Amino acid sequence: MELKSTVAVVTGGNGGLGQRICHALASAGAHIAVVYARSAGEGESVARALQARGVEAAPFACDVTDPAQVARLVEGVTERFGRLDILINDAAYNKAIPFRDLGALTIEEWTKILDVNLTGPLHCIKAVARIMQRQQRGRIVYIASIAGLAPSGSSIAYAVSKAGLIHLTKWMAVALAPHVLVNCVAPGLLEGTRATANLPKSQIEHSAASALLRKAADKDDVANQVVTMCRTETMTGQTVVIDAGRIFH
Ligand SMILES: NC(=O)c1ccc[n+]([C@@H]2O[C@H](COP(=O)([O-])OP(=O)(O)OC[C@H]3O[C@@H](n4cnc5c(N)ncnc54)[C@H](OP(=O)(O)O)[C@@H]3O)[C@@H](O)[C@H]2O)c1
Repeated sequence: MELKSTVAVVTGGNGGLGQRICHALASAGAHIAVVYARSAGEGESVARALQARGVEAAPFACDVTDPAQVARLVEGVTERFGRLDILINDAAYNKAIPFRDLGALTIEEWTKILDVNLTGPLHCIKAVARIMQRQQRGRIVYIASIAGLAPSGSSIAYAVSKAGLIHLTKWMAVALAPHVLVNCVAPGLLEGTRATANLPKSQIEHSAASALLRKAADKDDVANQVVTMCRTETMTGQTVVIDAGRIFH
């Protein structure tokens, strides 16, 4: 799909990875809806930085766990930009919970993590699918994690939420074909994001040391892969791993 003058909604667009995705899509010619939940200042500053580059961009507040807010987001974006072609589901919540401590894996944390990381993307996809199918054109990209492919990551709940997202990618590719293509990127550890700052230092060090390339994954590599998945005409239902060589699938 030619990305010039398309409209992309990026959930978590104010986050460490999300803002790189916003800039990469903008460089390919897309207009950007920067979606934040609580950090209004960061959402506005990412939108301002895009506008300073001459990009049409605006910040939107939305908690993806609330379908009413998601519906208002989609309405707001189509009112502001006149169309909606791309959805990037980058927003997520994590909290370090030791794998063997099942007592610490409370049902409250489990539910919150699955709500934000798995049910939230479902609300978003349901809200945009009607528009994309009507215009017979759309691209959806999920941001999962290698934790969804092999037991790793910040908690069992986080890993299960990302495994669900990877399977949801396949199902949504089936459900929305042939006009809407759905793909997923599964990054390994990314340095310099708030999510990474929530992890124990030992996990961060182990992650980079155990990679074949002896480094963390690169946020811009992930963002560029997202752009490729928006451009593609022949790839759907796939998950691409970017993790400096840690897991194979
Ligand atoms: N960092 C890593 O090492 C790593 C590795 C693999 C995969 N990932 C994945 O990469 C993506 C980006 O992570 P990141 O590291 O860039 O995280 P980050 O900087 O912490 O950003 C997380 C984003 O999610 C948003 N968010 C959280 N709860 C939300 C909700 N209920 N509704 C809407 N938005 C919500 C936050 O918005 P507010 O700040 O406004 O609340 C923020 O923009 C996530 O899907 C993460 O799981 C990260």
